[in-house]
Amino acid sequence: MEVVPVVVPDPGPGEAVVRVQACGVCHTDLHYREGGINDEFPFLLGHEAAGVVESVGEGVEDLSPGDYVILNWRAVCGRCRACKRGRPWYCFATHNAKQKMTLEDGTELSPALGIGAFAEKTLVAAGQCTKVDPAASPAAAGLLGCGVMAGLGAAINTGQVGRGDSVAVIGCGGVGNAAVVGSRLAGAGTIIAVDVDDRKLATAQRLGATHTVNSREVDAVEAIRGLTGGNGADVVIEAVGRPETYRQAFYARDLAGTVVLVGVPTPEMKLELPLLDVFGRGGALKSSWYGDCLPERDFPMLIDLYLQGRLDLDAFVSETVPLDGVEEAFARMQRGEVLRSVVVF
Ligand SMILES: NC(=O)c1ccc[n+]([C@@H]2O[C@H](COP(=O)([O-])OP(=O)(O)OC[C@H]3O[C@@H](n4cnc5c(N)ncnc54)[C@H](O)[C@@H]3O)[C@@H](O)[C@H]2O)c1
Ligand SMILES: [Zn+2]
Ligand SMILES: [Zn+2]
Repeated sequence: MEVVPVVVPDPGPGEAVVRVQACGVCHTDLHYREGGINDEFPFLLGHEAAGVVESVGEGVEDLSPGDYVILNWRAVCGRCRACKRGRPWYCFATHNAKQKMTLEDGTELSPALGIGAFAEKTLVAAGQCTKVDPAASPAAAGLLGCGVMAGLGAAINTGQVGRGDSVAVIGCGGVGNAAVVGSRLAGAGTIIAVDVDDRKLATAQRLGATHTVNSREVDAVEAIRGLTGGNGADVVIEAVGRPETYRQAFYARDLAGTVVLVGVPTPEMKLELPLLDVFGRGGALKSSWYGDCLPERDFPMLIDLYLQGRLDLDAFVSETVPLDGVEEAFARMQRGEVLRSVVVF
């Protein structure tokens, strides 16, 4: 990774330029850097951001310079078959800015998730900007732009966790711990946090997990069954993105329970399961794209809960770092030392 000058064009029709105030470091940025998402290098990384709209292009009506926004990476089209069926959180035609940001020599950049916010300014589609209450600090608010929203939504929207449910969350980084918080917000009775790192489990406990399981020391499936009357959890959320943890999630849920895959696998990963078990265990095997969120509906609501003291977003900000500190933040993430490092400008 390198910090270099980037040319940001003036916003064209339907676009906006945003002055970035804070941008979290997400595991997905690391996946990009390692070629785990695609090979369209060079990438402009960073996608968990909040900032202030600097300028808008032609035809942009509901956004103005000075608006405080969280950037989202699924700008809903309103016209595709998912949107037309009233399920816009699945939108199959989400869009980004049409123009490209470039290096000074004209090389086009691929912005991570169509955002690219490890930069003082970035060009996005106007629909990627969601206005929220400016009383919320940018470092905390920006996290709703990806990992924290993905985890909260995996529990609340995709998993449909309800009052009294038992939930297990496998992998308690920024995303998994947000799923713990989301399960608590939704009224879950038992919340079991599973990780291989005791530091993550300690955080999960602080954020509302009722039980913790270190799956390096004990068998995760047996432990989850043991904590749920021998049955398994109603909802199991996989927030690692690996076949072995998905298999644990599959077998650690109760009959007719729900598995939510929010961790992102890499292209070479494969999963083999007895088809009879897929049938016989029933229930639902779901993937959670961005926590099945609808930014316009969910971001302002969650920021209100944050400002009321009911959703501790600050707990996810482990440290703030300068723009040239991302490489070291990746290393701290890999060593398990942080939930989120946040670049502040
Ligand atoms: N679906 C989405 O929309 C979405 C959005 C953001 C991130 N993600 C994905 O979610 C995943 C988690 O992201 P993150 O930012 O929280 O990453 P992270 O690196 O902060 O957290 C991963 C956690 O998993 C734990 N872990 C690793 N191997 C494990 C194992 N075998 N068993 C149990 N725990 C294990 C680690 O100790 C760590 O706490 C990534 O795959 C990321 O790409 C998905
Ligand atoms: Zn659509
Ligand atoms: Zn992310």
